[in-house]
Amino acid sequence: MNPKELVGRKAAEYVQDGMVVGLGTGSTAYWFVDEVGQRVKNGELPNIVGVPTSKQTEMQARELGIPLAQLDEVNSIDLLVDGADECLRSMSGIKGGGGAHLIEKIVAENSHEIIWIVTEEKVVDYLGAFPLPVEVIQTGSWNIFRAFENAGMNPSFRKKGKDSLFVTDSGNYIIDLHLGRIDQPQQVAHELKTMVGVVEHGLFINYPNRILVAKNDGTVEVIEGQQ
Ligand code: 5RP
Repeated sequence: MNPKELVGRKAAEYVQDGMVVGLGTGSTAYWFVDEVGQRVKNGELPNIVGVPTSKQTEMQARELGIPLAQLDEVNSIDLLVDGADECLRSMSGIKGGGGAHLIEKIVAENSHEIIWIVTEEKVVDYLGAFPLPVEVIQTGSWNIFRAFENAGMNPSFRKKGKDSLFVTDSGNYIIDLHLGRIDQPQQVAHELKTMVGVVEHGLFINYPNRILVAKNDGTVEVIEGQQ
């Protein structure tokens, strides 16, 4: 079993019947959703409801027969399991490599418990080696791009294929910031949040309660946050 599959399937052990479950996005969350689907199929989870964080995850969950609801149809989410692109042991990280961080963050904000599932190379001492995704409104996005350039933030528009720009599920563009090392994530998050036209950035500060880390030796480490 590859490490992403191992940790994705392991995370499904935290799902109990009757829960409203946030379904993350990406190639690691894929395995979590797959395992939840198997458990629904074999009758272990007859009363769960899944809330997908992207169209891609919604499609996968639908095919697996997981009962679904949109966020606005549920009061809150009991457990969200999602991937991450980089994370700190202090429970922050970067998300949005798959371009779904806006909905992922909204779902996270409405979740009682959050588990991130990652492979071991994603656990880092400093954030920023992974380009920080920033979702921006299409109108005026070049102005935002230039503002990032002037601030020395090394922006690049996310592309889809060779010639088109990537468009998110919410119809926005993504500008990736190649920052190298983020010493003050709170400050960067604040600066981005105050820019008109920025919808959401991929810095998730103090989000997960628990991080499951798939190690290359086939074990899974559980990092617990402070309760
Ligand atoms: C999508 C995300 C993903 O969770 C993140 O990119 C990790 O993806 P993967 O498991 O494919 O490495 O934030 O927006």
